Amino acid sequence: MNKTLERVLSEKLEDLKRDGVFHLPPVIEGPQGPRVTIRGKEVINLASNNYLGLATHPRLIEAAKKATEEYGVGAGAVRTIAGTLSMHVALEEKLAKFKHTEAVLVFQSGFTSNMGVIEPLFEKGDLIISDALNHASIIDGIRLTKADKKIYPHSDMNALEDILKASDGYRLKLIVTDGVFSMDGDIAKLPEIVELAEKYGAVVMVDDAHASGVLGDHGRGTVDHFKLHGRVDIQVGTLSKAIGVLGGYVAGSRKLIDYLIHRGRPFLFSTAHPPGVVAANMAAIDVMLEENLQEKLWENARYFKRGLKELGFDTGQSETPITPVIVGEGSLAMAFSEALFEEGVFCTGIAFPTVPKGKARVRTMVMATHTKEDLDMALDAFTSAGKKLGII
Ligand SMILES: Cc1ncc(COP(=O)(O)O)c(C=O)c1O
Repeated sequence: MNKTLERVLSEKLEDLKRDGVFHLPPVIEGPQGPRVTIRGKEVINLASNNYLGLATHPRLIEAAKKATEEYGVGAGAVRTIAGTLSMHVALEEKLAKFKHTEAVLVFQSGFTSNMGVIEPLFEKGDLIISDALNHASIIDGIRLTKADKKIYPHSDMNALEDILKASDGYRLKLIVTDGVFSMDGDIAKLPEIVELAEKYGAVVMVDDAHASGVLGDHGRGTVDHFKLHGRVDIQVGTLSKAIGVLGGYVAGSRKLIDYLIHRGRPFLFSTAHPPGVVAANMAAIDVMLEENLQEKLWENARYFKRGLKELGFDTGQSETPITPVIVGEGSLAMAFSEALFEEGVFCTGIAFPTVPKGKARVRTMVMATHTKEDLDMALDAFTSAGKKLGII
């Protein structure tokens, strides 16, 4: 290895170790279910984004198998060259109908959707206004543009308005926000954001990664939840979390999608989804429309959140199934996560820089497929581990 590279890497790894954040990913030995096996131990899974349990749903598995047998395992090219199969188009039409928008474009992931839509739309002379807690993929999308950037403190509508007041002279102004904030589980103040955008002539973009399948009628997302159809210009969704498979999409006007087909770089320069993925995504939408998984998810979320609060844990501002248990120091969050694992619960510790210093936490996410017994066992584990570490 190049000697300088070796030294640089050693220094960087030492920094991570010194900060106590050097961790290799836990390995799940088996399917992604409400309980998982890690290091040979069965534990209750409170760490996944598989909110509705669709990652292992028989209808999705069947759809993926059938499509794979009929069409093979790969799309063979990027969408614009030779990779667009009829099922890619069918999925986009299905999603557009589901989201009540004119059109949809599917990307390889939620991450590439955010980068793929922001980068080609905004340039020098434009202004992007972003919530301080927006996801990394939004931040990276913004970094790729030459637009001016302003960050407003998390969900602070007065600060957002102050920025908008001082934003004369820009061509496009974009307000971009997560729909549900991934580390805290609170919902964006989308109605206020839309009001401000209309007052000051700004474009609105919402990233519904954690709202897809969770909020709105049958999981249509925050725009549906707040009944803001037609007033949010760009909606991003992921197919990799509640939808249970892989992918992301941009939903909006036909013009927006036609432009992204020509300028969205991950769409243009990275191979299309395999048939099995596309078919499973389509089956997921059918399941969401036909089965009542969303209601079960919320019932479980309310039960578990109430249980944690009654035990005396700090669950922050959460309004959704994402429920942080905030403990303070990063090292305590990591120790808590380990103690919970010993007690039979899997949820990850999250510390700076992912969350602010002093706000380290374990993040819990219940699933529609957890039983009441799973949740009661998890609450018992939180009681023992929390008392052992003096958190409660
Ligand atoms: C708010 C938000 N946006 C986008 C993404 C990326 O989605 P995907 O996993 O489909 O790439 C995530 C995933 O962590 C997210 O939390």
